[in-house]
Amino acid sequence: MSHALFEPITLRGLEIRNRLWVPPMCQYVVEARDGVPVPWHLMHYGSLARGGAGAIIVEATGVVPEGRISANDLGLWNDAQRDGFRPVVDLVHGLGAKIGIQLAHAGRKASVYREWGVPRSGAMSPEDGAWQTVAPSAVAFPGLAEPVALDEAGIAGVVDAFAAAARRAVDAGFDFLEIHSAHGYLLHEFLSPLSNLRTDEYGGSLENRARLLLRVVDAVRGVIEDSVPLSVRLSATEWVDGGVTVEETSQVVTWLGQHGVDLADISSGGNVAQAPIPVGPGYQVPLATAVKQATGLTVAAVGMIDEPFQAEQIVATGLADIVLVGREFLRDTSFGLHAAERLKVQLPYVPYPYQRAFRR
Ligand code: FNR
Repeated sequence: MSHALFEPITLRGLEIRNRLWVPPMCQYVVEARDGVPVPWHLMHYGSLARGGAGAIIVEATGVVPEGRISANDLGLWNDAQRDGFRPVVDLVHGLGAKIGIQLAHAGRKASVYREWGVPRSGAMSPEDGAWQTVAPSAVAFPGLAEPVALDEAGIAGVVDAFAAAARRAVDAGFDFLEIHSAHGYLLHEFLSPLSNLRTDEYGGSLENRARLLLRVVDAVRGVIEDSVPLSVRLSATEWVDGGVTVEETSQVVTWLGQHGVDLADISSGGNVAQAPIPVGPGYQVPLATAVKQATGLTVAAVGMIDEPFQAEQIVATGLADIVLVGREFLRDTSFGLHAAERLKVQLPYVPYPYQRAFRR
């Protein structure tokens, strides 16, 4: 039996103990105010590291207050937030895993009630603290408020905010960074002709639509050490005519590689309400494979990869270099240990009491 899933992988000299990682997943913790992590985050990220993940990507973290999805998102626009992440980073490191963080700006999809929250969901009302959202163009996502189109100063502010947050993330001890350019959030909104109707140098051609993302990447690379790996999450397709295509995504990933990005985290959708997404086991893996084959960059696959043998097969056959397991790791925070057991791999980094539990 092959054990590719549990082989280490190295990005820019950073060795990660295996290829079974946890993707960013917002926790929307009620107690999280002002973007600062709370005990929940320690418990949550610690348990995933204890459960055998090679690396964990911390949830979408706002680079500016108005870039949060909900008021309970984490942030990295001030030093108190940076300091709040340190215990989370230290705990995960102590458990032998690596930890990255997804830097995000929610664009026109910001200012919503925390998902799955009761009693309300969707766009926040002014009395609950709704804020003005921004986007490439003044086009609302269905059901949400109309955003203001960013002007050149606003765009420069976004670039600076990503860079400042990146610096703080590295100062907090994060091993690597991910820039969120997927799921209909700000940088994806610029990439997509469905949400970007601009006629200036940020709209129109693919080169123009990718300009902001590349500016952000350059700014982030400019403030972090060369040794820090950089990932970008992209929605490779929008599953509708007229949206970003896999071919366009591959071109963007080629540019990203030239600008110092080490990993393409390939997801899909999120910018179109009610898109006909063919959800099923591993449904986004072919997108990751297509990008990998077109660009040669290291890629991560994500989306309903819930089974150890499925994950192993994806890595072993070269469909992707890394597998991200989200909801299954929430259902079973020992998923990494269960996967190793099923694949008959001895993990040297399993804490002793857990080795006893898994030795049958
Ligand atoms: C997510 N997802 C997500 N994606 C992202 O890029 N940034 C984020 O902060 C979040 N937040 C988030 C929260 C929750 C509760 C879920 C379930 C999902 C998407 C996630 O990273 C992943 O791409 C999908 O869940 C698909 O993978 P799984 O869950 O099928 O393995």
